[in-house]
Parts: sequence; structure tokens; C-alpha cells
Amino acid sequence: MQTSEHRHQTGSAVLYRAPSQPYPVAVSARGMTITDATGKAYLDMSGGAAVSCLGHGHPDVVAAIQRQVETLAFAHTAFFTNEPQEELASLIATRFSEPGARVYFASGGSEANETALKVAWQYWAARGHPNKKIIIGRDHSYHGNTFGVLSASGNDARRRASAAPLVNWPRIPPCYAYRERRNEEPIEVYSARAAAYLDDAIRRAGADKVAAFICEPIVGSSLGVVAAAPGYLARVREICDRHEVLFIADEIMCGSGRTGTFFAHRHDDVVPDIVSLAKGIGGGYQPLAAVVLRNAVAEELTRAGFAHGHTYIGHATACAAGVAVQRVLDRDKLPERTQKMGALFLSLLQQAFGEHPLVGDIRGRGLFFGIELVRDRKTKAGFEGGKKLPDQLRLAAMDAGLICYPGGIEVQGRTVPHIMMAPPMIVEEPHMRECIAKLGKVFETVLPRS
Ligand SMILES: Cc1ncc(COP(=O)(O)O)c(C=O)c1O
Repeated sequence: MQTSEHRHQTGSAVLYRAPSQPYPVAVSARGMTITDATGKAYLDMSGGAAVSCLGHGHPDVVAAIQRQVETLAFAHTAFFTNEPQEELASLIATRFSEPGARVYFASGGSEANETALKVAWQYWAARGHPNKKIIIGRDHSYHGNTFGVLSASGNDARRRASAAPLVNWPRIPPCYAYRERRNEEPIEVYSARAAAYLDDAIRRAGADKVAAFICEPIVGSSLGVVAAAPGYLARVREICDRHEVLFIADEIMCGSGRTGTFFAHRHDDVVPDIVSLAKGIGGGYQPLAAVVLRNAVAEELTRAGFAHGHTYIGHATACAAGVAVQRVLDRDKLPERTQKMGALFLSLLQQAFGEHPLVGDIRGRGLFFGIELVRDRKTKAGFEGGKKLPDQLRLAAMDAGLICYPGGIEVQGRTVPHIMMAPPMIVEEPHMRECIAKLGKVFETVLPRS
């Protein structure tokens, strides 16, 4: 039955994300809480999908959007630039690790990564290497749902749905120390071994045919927040340089201050050629994404031209929201707060679930966390017949009034679920404690007893 509080696919004209699933109707949101049409409150501990970095209803961002809509909502970028676009580009470029970066705006993560691929192809064509087209990605990665970036992604479930037309570019294993590091293997040895897959893949494909390597410096929803092992990204940088391959850092989830530095790659002291940002850059207030080009890449395209564009690139209202989000981040020192509150939440999670028989790993950086669930802590085996566990975890959490972001991978035919959390940077200790209490109940309800 369809009610205004709880809409089902029958009686609604919406084709939902999961078409047969009923969804509550979100009607308002403030701070850490989203409220549905029945009045039920949900504590938002994942910012949706690492989006709502300032929480909901931030008055500064709302006011900035209102002002911008009244002044200039939109003027097509084929004809004009606009002040918010200029200001936001300058703010982002200033934060980049090298001077002279340029920023290209888009409306979402997939669009940003598609833009990154086009930058790579056109950069190499401009430099006289039109055959450099291959994009190397990693297993269990997700860079978006459009064809180009889904082709570069290693998320099997999402690839399967559109498999036939996808390009089968080479993929290498992720840097995933919890599962891939050998017993007693020093971490630097492991990170060198993980990076060497890239060297092999480039050699096998032929460096003259490879345009770029794309990875998330900290893998978000595909693996449940897995940071690259120390030294990995530096080796990736060195391998890319040696073979003349561009390095694209997808910071759509992990960037924009979420891990305590504006750019996530700063933790690893490397400079990628292209960085994509989305989600937190607009905080959910407007659809907004950005592609940051290192100066050398930007200069080449400035000289040779860049054939690309969407109707809403550089959208004045979206960029005004982005500027307002950046001002709040700076004024309230939120990336610094993220480090402090992140350390607290990680220790509370470890106290609560560190000894849980079905919790294999608890990890995080800044306010970005993953809990990996296993059937057996010793062997790290997943759950047999557990394909539905991620959905069951999400629904049970919502029942308990908690928004978190479960996902999962298949390892040797068994499901290994994980839960990603990326709370708004305004999170306080009581929210953390409430989240932990609710998660405990969710585990009791959904996970098999040992
Ligand atoms: C790392 C990463 N890249 C790209 C995307 C695609 O972004 P969008 O859904 O905005 O197209 C996502 C979305 O979750 C993501 O997590």
C-alpha cells in the first residue's frame, strides 16, 4: 500500500535505485539527523555515502545558495565564466600540493572521472602519443557508473550488470594489507610487492599504449576504507613516471578533508597528475564535482585544447555551495577536528568491537572508517551464502535509526561484508556512542551466532 510516509514502487512513478524496495520518505534534516515522514529520526553516520561533510541544514551554505540563486543561478559556460566557479577553482588550486593547478568542474563523481580519462587521452594525443589509451585500474574498485569509468572499475557486481559493452582494461590487485600481506612480511616489502603489479601490468600492455593508472588513495565503499600501505603510492608515482603513465587519484570519497588533510594523497607525500573530487566538495547541498589537473597537464591542454563539456559544468549555484562549504571547513578548522574526533571514534569502535568474534578488522583515517566482518577471525574466511548480508545490515541499521554504509566483496566464494562510516565532521562523542550501541544491536540481529 502506498502512503505519503512510506512509498513503495506500486503507486509511485519513481523507478527506485532498488526498484522493488520500499523507501521511507526523507522530509527534513538538521545536523547529524535525517527525519522521515513518520517522524522517525536517523543518525547519519555515513553522510549518505561520504557526502554530508558539514551535516545537514548548515545555515551558511543555505544562505550562500539562496544569495546565488537570486543573483545568477546559471549562465552557460560556453558563453560565460562566473564568480563562484572562479573562486572555488582558486581555493582548490591553492590547496593542491603544487602551484599552477587548474580545476574543471562537473556535477558528480562519474562525470569527474570520465573527465579525468578524457584529460589523460587528450594530453597524450597532444604530446604525440595518440595510442596511449589503456586505463589500468584495480580489483574491487569503483570509479563510477558510466561506461568509461565502469570499464576502469573492478567492482564485479556493478560491472556484471553492464558487462557486454565494457572495455576490458587490465586490472591489478588492490593494496589491501589486511588480506594480502603475508605472515611476517614487513609492511614496506608488502607495499613494494603490491605496487609491482602495476609495473608488470604496464609492461604486459606496453607502455606506449597505457594512458593512466587510476586508484583511490583510500578505498571507500568498495573495500570498506582501506588506506594504501605506507610507501605504496610513492612507488606507484615512481612506476608511472618511469613508464610515462599518468596517475589519477580518485578522491571522490576520501578527499575534501575527510581524512584530516584536504587531499587524501597528502598523507603519502605524492603528487598525482589528476585528482577527482565530488561528494564532500559540495557537502550534498548541490551536485558538484571537480577535476584537479597538475600544472604540466593543464598547460598541455591549454595549448592544445580540450574537447569535452557538459551543460552544467561550472554551475554558478553549485560552485557557490562549494565555496561556502570550503569557508566553513577553513573557519571551523574541520580537517583538524576530523583528526582528533577520528582518533576518538576509532578507539571507541575498537573498545566496543575489537574482540567481537565476527569482526575481523577495524580501520580508519580521519573520520573515515571501515569494519570488516568475517566468519572466522583466524582464517579471515567470509560468510557462506552471505550475499544478502550487506543489504540486511543496511536495513537493520535503518530500523534502528542509523545510517551507515554496508558493502561487501566475494573471497573464495564467500561474502565478506564491511561497514563504511563517514560521519559529518561536526560529529560529537554522544553520536559515536549512540552509533556503537545501535551497531551492536544490528550485529546481534543480522549476523549468525557463533
Ligand atoms: C571512489 C568513487 N568514485 C566515483 C564514484 C561515482 O560518483 P557518483 O556516484 O557521484 O557518480 C563514487 C561513488 O560512490 C566513488 O565512491
